[in-house]
Amino acid sequence: MTERLSEAQLDRAAALLRDGALVAFPTETVYGLGGDATNDRTVAAIFAAKGRPTFNPLIVHVTDLATAEKLADFDGRARDLARRFWPGPLTLVLKRSDDCPISRLASAGLETVALRAPAHPLAQTLLHAAGRPLAAPSANRSGHVSPTTADHVLDELGGRIAAILDGGPCRVGIESTVIDLSEPTPAILRPGGVTREQLEAALGRLAQTGNSGTPRSPGMLERHYAPARPLRLAATTVTPDEALLAFGAPLTGAAATVNLSPTRDVTEAAANLFAALRELDQPRFKAIAVMPIPESGLGAAINDRLRRAARGRAN
Ligand code: TXA
Ligand code: MG
Repeated sequence: MTERLSEAQLDRAAALLRDGALVAFPTETVYGLGGDATNDRTVAAIFAAKGRPTFNPLIVHVTDLATAEKLADFDGRARDLARRFWPGPLTLVLKRSDDCPISRLASAGLETVALRAPAHPLAQTLLHAAGRPLAAPSANRSGHVSPTTADHVLDELGGRIAAILDGGPCRVGIESTVIDLSEPTPAILRPGGVTREQLEAALGRLAQTGNSGTPRSPGMLERHYAPARPLRLAATTVTPDEALLAFGAPLTGAAATVNLSPTRDVTEAAANLFAALRELDQPRFKAIAVMPIPESGLGAAINDRLRRAARGRAN
């Protein structure tokens, strides 16, 4: 049985984590499936609970920059980004420090580690109480949509983890931006809660990535974020057997409609995206038609998730 813990029971969650158990917890982006990042058996259990391929490394969560600097080699750029965006939805991929105590399995055998200080107050309190870095991928089964409520987590992982700390719905709703700073040229491996525009204000112009060479993020290979229903993107019409994921003034004639943001606010749309996909992913619909969403701000991360979900169905 998976215990559902309230904020008042946070000490219980921390004790379970210190014992090596798996505890899902809220972050400002999505819920994470947490475990002691320094414990190999715990990290192995995270992969097993998610059904995640062990070549896909995990994000390690820390309270702050000072803690992170013991785990990885920070240069001026990395420190600058951490000072600007932590705590917050930015993950830094850096070279592991010489005496890095993080399980090698969390790095999936790479010489790098992905680090993030989350902004959610419960995540911060939990990290302090647990007293160790927490490996935490999104708390969904591998290949499924990330969870933004405790109920989503229980639907996916109930019975497979010791507990979930319930912090209500996640504020940002889309995963963190992952940026690789382990090589001379920084590369955005995954668009997310911190926008390219915000990163370029700090680092200068960033090259577009993703169409050539070896992928620097193993997770980019995975069929990700896919609902079971096919997704039809950039829909300008909708049929009566389709569900509609609307943005702005909705198209008419769909079997059911969820509107990500009636006022065309991409930040609001990001917060609603994963819950909306879950709600519309029902066998009675032939497909989910998705209205066009602008690429600006968090729109880039939303469209990245939608394109992967659509591609996932094609093969
Ligand atoms: O917002 C988030 O980032 C959430 C919350 C819980 O913090 N976590 C999350 O974790 O989305 P996950 O495991 O679902 O996604 C981590 C991504 C994957 O695409 C993985 O391949 C990449 O980060 N990643 C992790 N470590 C890496 C590394 N050392 N090098 C390259 N990519 C890495
Ligand atoms: Mg994930």
